[in-house]
Amino acid sequence: MNTNITNLLKEAQQSIDQSKDLNILDQVRVTFLGKKGKITELLKQLGTLPEAKRKSEGQVINQAKEQIQSWLEQRKSQLETQELNKKLREERIDVTLPGRRNVIGSCHPVTQVQDRLVDILSTMGFVLARGPEVEDDYHNFEALNFLPNHPARTMHDTFYFPDGRLLRTHTSTVQIRYMENHTPPIRIIVPGKTYRCDSDATHSPMFHQIECLVVDESVSFANLKHLVALFLRRFFDRDDLETRFRPSYFPFTEPSAEVDAKFMGTDRWLEMGGCGMVHPNVLRFGNIDPEKYTGYAFGFGLDRLAMLYFGVNDLRLFFENDIRFLEQF
Ligand code: FA5
Ligand code: MG
Repeated sequence: MNTNITNLLKEAQQSIDQSKDLNILDQVRVTFLGKKGKITELLKQLGTLPEAKRKSEGQVINQAKEQIQSWLEQRKSQLETQELNKKLREERIDVTLPGRRNVIGSCHPVTQVQDRLVDILSTMGFVLARGPEVEDDYHNFEALNFLPNHPARTMHDTFYFPDGRLLRTHTSTVQIRYMENHTPPIRIIVPGKTYRCDSDATHSPMFHQIECLVVDESVSFANLKHLVALFLRRFFDRDDLETRFRPSYFPFTEPSAEVDAKFMGTDRWLEMGGCGMVHPNVLRFGNIDPEKYTGYAFGFGLDRLAMLYFGVNDLRLFFENDIRFLEQF
């Protein structure tokens, strides 16, 4: 019996030492100590031994069992450490590798120009006003002194809805809407989207304007000219910006002018907007007494200002939404 135990212990030690991982080690444990394991079998056979031998033999087997258990535990902790080290090696992160950059979006160049203009004009005491993009004939034309068959209506290639409503062709609509609810003194700016059936390098079917309306006692054309020159210089941040006023015609202003600005370092002028003294008929439509009050107004193309500001010579590029183009601003 004792030589048997000695051999069994040798066998167990070898198997335990050779176990390459925790699974195999567990199988070894089952082979020796499991319900039908070799040691368990020996303990079961104890009952068949004569009483005198049972005790000493039992002790020997139990010692062997404890020995095997302790080897198993040692090997187990060895294998666990090995596996942990292996895991740590394989899952190591190189913290010195460059990180992945997040893509950060930015405001559309036309939005940037709009925000900049609103900032500049707000510091000059103007209040922001808004109006609907889907308009009626009255606010887009009639109350702005375009009589029903006025030829100037055809200058605004208008998009009409079947019910006679339209997409506003300019932000001047808000002049009327604002006067309907307010009395002088009025100092507003109105940025917003406008629409015309138009498309080339300087015209887009959807574009943006910023409107300005001032109504007060003794407002003059000189005030208008001064304001336009001042805010353009501030906007472009250049004192040497060349601008010119050209006599022009709008039904809702008298006298009227258009304002051009020069592309930096070229001979090319680009029309930025229209302006003039508010026509007495328009003040009357707004329930304002033209004998007591005068006003001036202007409407500038934001996209045109953006072209000049960023040096882009085709306005349509702003609206193609090519991220490679837009990313530059
Ligand atoms: C007007 O729209 C007038 N409402 C401006 C005005 C306001 C005059 C107040 C007097 C008093 P006009 O049609 O010229 O005017 O357009 C004004 C500006 O909008 C143009 O100078 C140009 O900068 C811009 N613009 C006009 N059509 C387009 C278009 N299709 N695409 C891009 N910009 C345009
Ligand atoms: Mg014009």
